[in-house]
Amino acid sequence: MHQFDTAAYSIFLGPLADALPEWLRARDYTRVLLITDENTRRCCAPVLESAWQALGIRPEIAEIPAGEQHKNIDMCARLWQAMLDARLDRRALAVNLGGGVIGDMGGFCAATWKRGIDFVQAPTTLLSMTDAAIGGKLGIDFQGIKNTVGVFQNPAAVFVDPVFLKTLPARELRSGTAEVLKHAQIGDPDLWRILTGKDYNSPDFDWLSVLKASIAVKVRVVTEDPFEKGLRMVLNYGHTIGHAVETYFLGTDDPLTHGEAIAIGMIAESYLAYGEGERLSEIVAGIRAYFPHRQVPEGALSAVWSYMLQDKKNAGKSVRMAVPGDAGPYSMRTMDLEQRMLADGMAYYAAGRTG
Ligand SMILES: NC(=O)c1ccc[n+]([C@@H]2O[C@H](COP(=O)([O-])OP(=O)(O)OC[C@H]3O[C@@H](n4cnc5c(N)ncnc54)[C@H](O)[C@@H]3O)[C@@H](O)[C@H]2O)c1
Ligand SMILES: [Zn+2]
Repeated sequence: MHQFDTAAYSIFLGPLADALPEWLRARDYTRVLLITDENTRRCCAPVLESAWQALGIRPEIAEIPAGEQHKNIDMCARLWQAMLDARLDRRALAVNLGGGVIGDMGGFCAATWKRGIDFVQAPTTLLSMTDAAIGGKLGIDFQGIKNTVGVFQNPAAVFVDPVFLKTLPARELRSGTAEVLKHAQIGDPDLWRILTGKDYNSPDFDWLSVLKASIAVKVRVVTEDPFEKGLRMVLNYGHTIGHAVETYFLGTDDPLTHGEAIAIGMIAESYLAYGEGERLSEIVAGIRAYFPHRQVPEGALSAVWSYMLQDKKNAGKSVRMAVPGDAGPYSMRTMDLEQRMLADGMAYYAAGRTG
């Protein structure tokens, strides 16, 4: 078991069925509510059977339909109802077993139930293990706009168990690699070498080491800047353009996963920030080895630009972007983008250069 300690909570990396009972035994919760979606209830909840047996408890289980389209206030009402039915008092615990949707929404519901009960994150997707479960951002989408309602609240603990990656659909697994590649660029050149040198689909790919290194980067950044006043902005690398591309494709017949969109964003943003040269070639080669080229129609760019302008972090007519800086790991550079620069970055992406 590997353990990261932040000032507020610990992150345990290793078998959940061992770590959770040990952690719970040292605490005095009145009740436990396990929050799942239809897939994680089926694929992931059985891993905990032995743990509940060892503890001699039977948790209540709440299940919601899977998918981002359900990360909304209606499903919160359903979860709060489950909390009511399970008679959760202020000393109860919620266990969020799922991807980022369950972590963000289950955490939000727990953080607001009776003005806040403890919750733990047990992430089951690569994206949530390495990114969403760490950092205390919780929330839901409102009127179709992502993450508009939410709070900052830290979990009581995070449990990352690589075993869950085995049942994760291939496209979801690949999607999560975008955040890992991002973390490697932000703070860990060795992680970048591991990712770009080995086949992550191979059965002997060392997920434990990759998770350890990737989580370490996220922990360091959010510890240094918990409320996104400075360095934490660098976690948006690839997201300023990528998020808007993702939103555009959501309205088409062929949506991109989050990671697929962020991969496009990282390439376009890197071109704008670094220009042609060795650094850009290395980044593009690394990312393209994971993510095949996707055509973004030129006609999409004005929509993409308008989504970028709606981004929470902007002031005025240009769009603030943050990328890894030039002073080595954990440095940051910000740039203000204008519409024409978006076109340049996307033209570079569209040319399909592989390094
Ligand atoms: N709070 C943050 O800091 C933060 C950061 C990044 C992303 N997010 C949020 O995370 C969400 C995306 O998370 P995600 O990519 O994990 O999506 P997700 O939670 O929708 O999970 C993806 C799919 O995989 C299924 N699944 C999950 N684990 C599985 C497993 N082990 N085996 C089989 N199927 C499994 C889910 O049921 C779902 O269908 C977005 O809503 C995003 O806004 C939050
Ligand atoms: Zn992301």
